[in-house]
Amino acid sequence: MMPDTTTLETKNASLSSHKSPITIGLLGLGTVGTGVYKLLARFPQTAISKIAVKNLDKQRSLSQIPPNTLTAHAEDVIKDPNIDIIVELIGGKEYPYQLIRQALESGKHVVTANKVVIAHYGPELFALAAEKGVNLFFEAAVAGGIPIVLPLKTSLAGNQIQQIAGILNGTTNYILTRMEQAGLDFQAALKEAQAKGFAEADPTADIEGHDAACKISILGSIAYNAYLPQPAVYTEGISNIGAADIEMARTFGYTIKLIALAKGCENNAVDLRVHPMLVPSEHPLAKVAYENNAIWVQGDAVGDVMFYGKGAGELPTASAVVGDILFMTQALQSGQSYLAGMDFSLPGQGSIRPIADTTNAYYIRLEAEDQPGVLGHLGQACGDHNVSLDAIMQKGTHPETKTATIVLLTHEVQEADLQAALKTMQAQSSTKRIHTVLRVFQP
Ligand SMILES: NC(=O)c1ccc[n+]([C@@H]2O[C@H](COP(=O)([O-])OP(=O)(O)OC[C@H]3O[C@@H](n4cnc5c(N)ncnc54)[C@H](OP(=O)(O)O)[C@@H]3O)[C@@H](O)[C@H]2O)c1
Repeated sequence: MMPDTTTLETKNASLSSHKSPITIGLLGLGTVGTGVYKLLARFPQTAISKIAVKNLDKQRSLSQIPPNTLTAHAEDVIKDPNIDIIVELIGGKEYPYQLIRQALESGKHVVTANKVVIAHYGPELFALAAEKGVNLFFEAAVAGGIPIVLPLKTSLAGNQIQQIAGILNGTTNYILTRMEQAGLDFQAALKEAQAKGFAEADPTADIEGHDAACKISILGSIAYNAYLPQPAVYTEGISNIGAADIEMARTFGYTIKLIALAKGCENNAVDLRVHPMLVPSEHPLAKVAYENNAIWVQGDAVGDVMFYGKGAGELPTASAVVGDILFMTQALQSGQSYLAGMDFSLPGQGSIRPIADTTNAYYIRLEAEDQPGVLGHLGQACGDHNVSLDAIMQKGTHPETKTATIVLLTHEVQEADLQAALKTMQAQSSTKRIHTVLRVFQP
């Protein structure tokens, strides 16, 4: 189904066309808020009149904030009748959701960088915005500075989107890059990412894939014209990946990346998931290194396109937020208000294909007894469950445990069959441990 996003219909022209400048209320003056404050200074058609922060006494890097601009009460900003656009940059889930609701209720336009709120409450908030005749924009919520939300809604709207594959989390991409380039194990690479400011003190949301799941829920909902909620995204993180997997993948011509995938299937179902994948080393996604993000989109008309750049950071994220503010400002100043087609406020939920029904090629690394016949047993387990093997490699023996590392690569098979084959392998007395099972990305 093609997204119904091509018309920017003016529904409400309640704001006078000569109002200038457009007044902005900022909620949050942290990393992104500071960037937005700096960038907006370039645009006299906007003026920041109030800013809500948590701690009024905090030392700030911005020196020229006019007196009485800061407040510790976000509600004061929302209630200010002179403010046209509320920019929510506080972060979190329930509190910013309440603030965005209140802002829309009181007829204010909203720009947010909050993927959690959009992924969880998007349809409800977009419906409210439409009812009130105001806009809710969220370009920065997916992949920070990379333009992808607006391009999907507008420039690519003529396509049926066959597949979106994204590297949407800078922390995990930094960790995987360092594991590959420096041979670090996962824990060492995570520590380094934390020391360099690329990972939070509590990195769970990033390394377990939840952050990327919010983002692909949003992109999938836009591309497939149906709400695909984040909790329904099948999600695996990267904490099980060992240095040995990175090396083995390279031997077979692959690079391991955390991929967020949205793929159109028959009967309007969408295959939506986040997990590490073996990406062919020559594919552009394999070359996305360190904290960078990328979104590779396959459309039936355009073919393959890739968006690449900084997925986070003060000015890159502010670039996307300010883009939304200026787009909205231009509309308001030309007498338009509500721009239809900028949301995914569609009734009902899209159907997500269960992971067991998906088909993939697989990489399996296991440890088995180092004795004749073991490869035959593994081949039998696969054959018994319709899993055909593409390659099998024994790499290194461990004399102290009398075991060997074995890697299997399968052809494309159904996930349910693969899981059954793994169960059989695990039950074989010669199998000591199945270390890693990864899917292979197929462009
Ligand atoms: N950082 C990035 O690179 C990035 C990239 C993409 C999207 N985002 C999204 O952008 C949003 C903001 O992220 P950030 O990194 O800028 O966060 P941050 O640095 O932690 O800043 C949060 C700001 O919100 C203020 N704040 C917190 N609780 C508040 C409350 N109860 N009332 C009023 N103000 C409050 C804080 O005040 P104090 O300054 O007084 O502490 C601070 O100024 C999040 O939704 C995040 O997911 C961030």
